Amino acid sequence: MQIKSGTCMPVWTSAATSEPGRVSILPLRRALKPAVFLTSLVPFGLLIVDFVFDRLGAEPIEEITHRTGTWGLTFLVITLAVTPVRRLTGWNAVIRLRRMLGLFAFFYVSLHFLTYIVLDQFFAFSFILEDVAERPYIMVGFASFLLLIPLAVTSTKGMIRRLGRRWTQLHRAIYLAAAGGVIHFLWQVKADTRRPTIYGLVLVTLLAARLVNVSKSHGR
Ligand code: HEM
Repeated sequence: MQIKSGTCMPVWTSAATSEPGRVSILPLRRALKPAVFLTSLVPFGLLIVDFVFDRLGAEPIEEITHRTGTWGLTFLVITLAVTPVRRLTGWNAVIRLRRMLGLFAFFYVSLHFLTYIVLDQFFAFSFILEDVAERPYIMVGFASFLLLIPLAVTSTKGMIRRLGRRWTQLHRAIYLAAAGGVIHFLWQVKADTRRPTIYGLVLVTLLAARLVNVSKSHGR
């Protein structure tokens, strides 16, 4: 990529070059993925630190459930935003982050799920089944989590190659999982629906952006 500029300004180039007047952005590009990886681990790191130093408040299990649920949903939405961001900005390199961001969504939702199974219910499976059947928000959360499992399992390069077009079709289920996450969030809040509503609006906008793009490409 080259951004041409005036004579006294540097010309940015992605190629490793020693030409005078050219500044290589290759190191920046290379640093992007590790930087996003480390940043994505920050909520987890803070959770561990707060746990170790007993800073999770009076209801630590509830706090862990809330944090991991929020980050799971946030990463789902960020993952879905990657393609629209690429289309709007022309920043193609961002696409290389999508798989990693999706796996972070799965990581945080899995922690959320495990918090419920292990810390909250202490493996009481008969009670868990009752809970799933009786509380609709748990059932929707459960279904969304189940939807994410095949997506995580098929996220390897080999699977992408093997599944071809079917991979793309399968991975559209991420919209459904995110919508389930928003409904799950909305159904459990008692009074203040602002946060789940914001997630819902962002998700609807991303879905609309996708549908507009699909109809444009069909119209061509
Ligand atoms: C895609 C899957 C899921 C997403 C995105 C998700 C997201 C969320 C979010 C955003 C919250 C609210 C956090 C807050 O109040 O700050 C939450 C709460 C909760 N979630 Fe999930 N969740 C998912 C799946 C599940 C599953 C599978 C279970 C258990 C089987 C579960 C159990 C809970 C519980 C118990 C709460 C706390 C409810 C309360 O405060 O009373 N979630 N989840």
